[in-house]
Amino acid sequence: MRSFPEVKAENGVPTTVKILITGSSGQIGTNLAERLISMGHEPVGLDIRANTWVDTFRTIEADLTAPEKGLIEMLAGDEFDCVVHLAAHAKVYELVENPAKALENVEMVFNAIEISRRGRIPFVFGSSREVYGDVTRHMTEEAHADFVIAESPYSASKIAGEAFVYSYSRCYGLPHLVFRFSNVYGRYDNDIERLERVVPLFIKKIGSGEKVTIFGPEKVLDFTYVDDCISGIAAGIERLTSGKVANETINLAYGRGYTLARLVEIISEKLSVKSDVEFLPTRAGEVTRYVANISKAARLLGYAPSTPLEVGVANEIEWARTAAR
Ligand SMILES: NC(=O)c1ccc[n+]([C@@H]2O[C@H](COP(=O)([O-])OP(=O)(O)OC[C@H]3O[C@@H](n4cnc5c(N)ncnc54)[C@H](O)[C@@H]3O)[C@@H](O)[C@H]2O)c1
Repeated sequence: MRSFPEVKAENGVPTTVKILITGSSGQIGTNLAERLISMGHEPVGLDIRANTWVDTFRTIEADLTAPEKGLIEMLAGDEFDCVVHLAAHAKVYELVENPAKALENVEMVFNAIEISRRGRIPFVFGSSREVYGDVTRHMTEEAHADFVIAESPYSASKIAGEAFVYSYSRCYGLPHLVFRFSNVYGRYDNDIERLERVVPLFIKKIGSGEKVTIFGPEKVLDFTYVDDCISGIAAGIERLTSGKVANETINLAYGRGYTLARLVEIISEKLSVKSDVEFLPTRAGEVTRYVANISKAARLLGYAPSTPLEVGVANEIEWARTAAR
């Protein structure tokens, strides 16, 4: 077996790295690419659709479930230092209604990780707190994932994705990091006609005087401001490509739980408007309680999220106003 290339570092400091980001036209991918550029690195995107937010980096338009013949081999030979796989159908309830999309998520992982295996390129996988299922998880440590419990087809697709990563690590020595994200919100997330996300959806509805529906009054979730999440991923990429950290599974979240009712209150306060709320039961497949233990991210990556929901929501409202101009 051919070994993975020497890591890129001079005196322990990573040099410029070239990174393939799948799902680069999405929220996390776009923010990550922009951050990497600002750090002097070279991101290249791959997505099924063009980026509607920015044109600051190259995007290869391709369907990762059915890549054109030769694409995987071509990318594997393109001298990337890291592949960050974020492409997915990312909406939990949509996959309950259409589980075939969960299978497509697994196909995307397979094709992305094949770029890494063939090109001997370290791999970063964007997983989810959904792998923990929905049982007794007040504070969840990475080792506590119980893969017997898959809450939804989306969870199953992330569990399968992680399983591919761990199996490639064992069989081919693939250096990797798995990040489990939780309710990432902020910049580049208000394309809600494409993907409904709770924070921008509630901001839009409350702002325009519409009723908001909370599925699950008891739900407590860990909302992560996008800049905090991106700091964690970027630190991971630099440590992985400079050989300091590898083969770890890491929660990236804020580390505090908020009810959706509290989210509505915060949005109403920031917009200075009253909200009209209806409560309905949690829908099938949705997690009702998750607060991450982020001590591993702090220890391995120096991760220190600094944006509580009150501040992040204000930032998001301000960004949406500027973006709408
Ligand atoms: N944002 C969150 O709160 C959150 C939480 C947990 C996990 N995640 C995971 O992080 C990753 C990124 O999330 P996001 O919020 O940026 O999602 P997103 O939907 O904004 O971005 C995903 C991107 O994948 C692309 N894509 C979908 N199908 C594709 C295909 N067949 N070929 C190529 N590209 C395809 C989409 O066009 C989209 O741009 C996803 O894997 C998601 O499951 C996100």
